[in-house]
Amino acid sequence: MVDLSTEIAGIELRNPVIAAAGPPTKDGEAMVKAAAGGAGGLIAKTISIEAAAVPRPSMAALDRGEVLSYTTLALNSRLTRITKANTTIVRGMLNAELWSDIPYSQWLEKEYKIAKGTGLPLIASIGYTGEELSTIGPLVEEAGVDGIEFSLHYLGFDYRPILDTARALRDAVEVPIFAKVSPHIMNLTEFAKELERLGVNGIVAINSLGPCLHIDIETGKPVVGGEGGYGWLSGPAIKPLAVRCVADIARAVDIPVIGVGGITSGQDAVEHIMAGASAVQICTGAILEGPSIFGRVSREIGRFLEEHGYRSVDDIRGVALEHLPEEPLRTQAVPAYVDEDLCKACGLCVKPCIYGAVEGGTEEVKARIDRDKCYGCGLCITICPERAISFEAH
Ligand SMILES: Cc1cc2nc3c(=O)[nH]c(=O)nc-3n(C[C@H](O)[C@H](O)[C@H](O)COP(=O)(O)O)c2cc1C
Repeated sequence: MVDLSTEIAGIELRNPVIAAAGPPTKDGEAMVKAAAGGAGGLIAKTISIEAAAVPRPSMAALDRGEVLSYTTLALNSRLTRITKANTTIVRGMLNAELWSDIPYSQWLEKEYKIAKGTGLPLIASIGYTGEELSTIGPLVEEAGVDGIEFSLHYLGFDYRPILDTARALRDAVEVPIFAKVSPHIMNLTEFAKELERLGVNGIVAINSLGPCLHIDIETGKPVVGGEGGYGWLSGPAIKPLAVRCVADIARAVDIPVIGVGGITSGQDAVEHIMAGASAVQICTGAILEGPSIFGRVSREIGRFLEEHGYRSVDDIRGVALEHLPEEPLRTQAVPAYVDEDLCKACGLCVKPCIYGAVEGGTEEVKARIDRDKCYGCGLCITICPERAISFEAH
């Protein structure tokens, strides 16, 4: 039996998959559903002194793909992902949702109470200025939340003035506080170190990326109704950025890092954890698939751990960090080769080889790599669904 439980700043989680601040935690009832769907913890939707006037339309799916059947997925499982057949697959989502449109008094009187009834750890999310944080922080603490996440989303690119807002919250409350950083903030590692120094208990990375613009070419209009037609990007498209931020922060600080961005499968979550995350959060995936995603992703993490001989989430936390080289790995080519026993002759590796080094790979003939032409770029290795291609030992 693998152990999925984890702990962040003294907060015990039954599993490391937390419902992120956003529509899946938009009120108490939504959080009850997230808990029933298998979440290990809850981050309530961000609240502020003024309830938000949310621009509409507020959400748009980008690059909506075909709903993939299990057959397609089985054939090519590393390029796509296994989801329920009726789930829309997107590369990303734009949103212009700001923060909660429910007045904070209602959160204090009603929504947090409903969420606390689930028995799961409940973390409030609050924003944005130092004054707002030091006013709302003590109120949500009094409402009995287990911790407070504070969003730095609308505070600009320069981290130095943002430190004052973190300090204002630290001085105002006793519960663990978590800084949720946005990818557009400059010098993330220095920022993370400063946050740790002033007593922040954990760092959540990342919020959505932007601002971004997507035009519906049939109407010539932007797809979301925010200022300038802008929205913020989330979902699978931002996962590599999120994982990089998690790794950078995890190497810089000793406090826990919570990874969020693009997680829709146990594999995605494992990647965040291997980059140093102690737990993960999901937002976009839970909007598209519904609250059952939390349990599914948690079970998939468990299956991965079991299949790879790990006993707990701790066993894989940060294992990738020692493999992140300070200098480029090497600049000489090491050719790739194909393990014939594993190659299914699907041909996926042939076309993308811009060096013309892959031969065969058709229905009958297994792929073969011409080592003189191979540039050692590695693309075919990442495309092969069977892991039949690897670099020659060197
Ligand atoms: C529609 C929508 C609303 C969101 N609202 C909030 C919010 O109120 N507070 C917050 O900190 N992050 C908010 N987020 C950001 C998510 O919590 C998350 O950090 C980001 O979307 C990346 O994760 P994902 O790819 O799993 O969605 C929102 C995201 C979306 C898509």
